[in-house]
Amino acid sequence: MSSLLGRLAVGLLLAAGQLTTAYDLDPDSPDSVKSVSKDMAADLVSFYNGNQPGNTPGLLPDPYYWWEAGAMMGTLIDYWYYTGDDTYNDLTSQALLFQVGETNDYMPRNQTRTEGNDDQGFWGLSVMSAAEYKFPDPPADQPQWLALAQAVFNTQAARWDTEHCNGGLRWQIFTWNNGYDYKNSISQACFFALGARLALYTGNQSYADWADKTWDWMIATKLINTKNWAVYDGAGIETNCTVLTPYQFSYNVGGMILGAAAMYNMTESQTWKTRLDNLLEGSKVFFTGPNNNIMSEVACESVNTCNVDEHSFKAYLTRWLTMMIKWAPHTYDVIHPYLRASSVAAAKQCKGGANKRMCGLIWYDGKYDNTTGVGQQMAALEITMSNLILNSSSPVTADTGGTSVGDPGGGGDDIGRNQPKGPDYKPITGADKFGAAVLTLLAIATVVVAMGFIFLDETSPQGPVAQFKGFWSSASAAVATLAAGGGFAAAAAAGRRRSEKEKGIRINEKSILNNGESESSSKNPFSEPVMVTPDSIRHSVVSQRRLSNMPIGWPHNPSVRNSVVVAESSAAASSEDQRQR
Ligand SMILES: *[C@@H]1O[C@H](CO)[C@@H](O)[C@H](O)[C@H]1NC(C)=O
Ligand SMILES: *[C@@H]1O[C@H](CO)[C@@H](O)[C@H](O)[C@H]1NC(C)=O
Ligand SMILES: *[C@@H]1O[C@H](CO)[C@@H](O)[C@H](O)[C@H]1NC(C)=O
Repeated sequence: MSSLLGRLAVGLLLAAGQLTTAYDLDPDSPDSVKSVSKDMAADLVSFYNGNQPGNTPGLLPDPYYWWEAGAMMGTLIDYWYYTGDDTYNDLTSQALLFQVGETNDYMPRNQTRTEGNDDQGFWGLSVMSAAEYKFPDPPADQPQWLALAQAVFNTQAARWDTEHCNGGLRWQIFTWNNGYDYKNSISQACFFALGARLALYTGNQSYADWADKTWDWMIATKLINTKNWAVYDGAGIETNCTVLTPYQFSYNVGGMILGAAAMYNMTESQTWKTRLDNLLEGSKVFFTGPNNNIMSEVACESVNTCNVDEHSFKAYLTRWLTMMIKWAPHTYDVIHPYLRASSVAAAKQCKGGANKRMCGLIWYDGKYDNTTGVGQQMAALEITMSNLILNSSSPVTADTGGTSVGDPGGGGDDIGRNQPKGPDYKPITGADKFGAAVLTLLAIATVVVAMGFIFLDETSPQGPVAQFKGFWSSASAAVATLAAGGGFAAAAAAGRRRSEKEKGIRINEKSILNNGESESSSKNPFSEPVMVTPDSIRHSVVSQRRLSNMPIGWPHNPSVRNSVVVAESSAAASSEDQRQR
């Protein structure tokens, strides 16, 4: 008897050992999807403490940047929209309203050192979803979702820069930030999608005109490749955007798909349908695994180089592919099998952490990859919830039940401003004056020295003297910030920021190239290597181009100094897009 019990116990233990999967997701059962989503959402929110006393609403702790908190609030809006569970609504509203900044356009002073158009864009897209999904409106004395989205749009439209590359948004908003000389696809994609969605929601043609213009610019610069519908990372203004940074990240094509779907819904035109269908085909490069149907951040996953930002990109590709289905229902049959298979794979690998159900980054091999984070958790939650798309209400517009109040002129004096106002710290009071003066002098010295390191780029084709000319204008901006009350804390923040920005994992271009070569044998005819084909690259003396999602200051790692650029062939000019017009 006792030996039988013993054997049973051993058997059970063994079974438990095999049964290490926390989630048994049935993608066809809304109850199963909701139950898994509930746990994944709780685990996502466990990374956030901005709602706790003494903390700042809308900020994630280190190492997450400001923009990712805005993106995460978008995921929590999605969570409520797909599941109906309002557990996190208050936390979400609090964060979205705390970070609006003084002109209600997501340009809070504290973020002037990191905020690019893409960062602001992510917050803008989150409040746009709040308006479209009828997320509970804020009290009347608070900024409203639609008005916030419009203010983000207005400030960005004013930054459209025709001086270089015949248009486009620069990555950075403020002249003194590293990256002001780069026009990246995700900034354009956020602006494009926001414009398209505002056009659809409000019926105002001005937004649609901007979306058209952004699309045309992406095609003209070849950041969208009209042969294979790859969307590349960006281009620098020093070459008039003729040299592209060839990496493909999933959120770039995702953002363009989102905007194209909204434009298609609004115009019902064949032109937008063709563009959307082409991009959708191009996005299949991000599905790998034995059946090429499991979503993967291919540029970095297989070589283990994804940084903190990149851990979250699949969340946005998923979110935007899923929203696309509502605006372009014919795409459901194309994309649903991919989302469904990816959701099962994603849930299967969530076995990490103390609770044995935290999700890792890699979905395609059924193994937990020993990573956890906001990005991993967001992506797994979004792909799980995508199974509920047919059970969810359609996004509204102002004419079909939308209640969010707009402000077409929002953005205030942030419109056209490219110098920072300075951070949000308490102004120095009279009693502090002497000490403050001393500290400020010290701070200026510290900043000036620190900025020398930040702005002197050893790989720049400019000599140090030319660089220092630019540096002095940056330094004077820093002094202006200090004069605005930044004081010592600003200098400390500058120092901290530099080291934070260097924490990110760097892309190892050697392994990427090898990866690219092996991928070129892929069976999918559309999937040209995600990075670059070996014969389309050349080593160049042009300075190392930072990836726009890379930490600012990247790379300071000598082993990755060799530059890789696309040699653009002008023969590629015969674009499908032009033919179809
Ligand atoms: C800006 O930073 C200060 C100091 O940490 C903080 O008190 C304030 O709440 C922050 N404001 C925002 C909008 O994050
Ligand atoms: C930069 O490229 C645009 C087209 O994208 C062209 O119109 C413009 O003349 C170019 N500018 C320079 C200085 O080459
Ligand atoms: C339409 O949008 C434009 C651009 O933001 C704005 O200037 C204009 O006032 C809007 N028109 C209406 C009727 O809201």
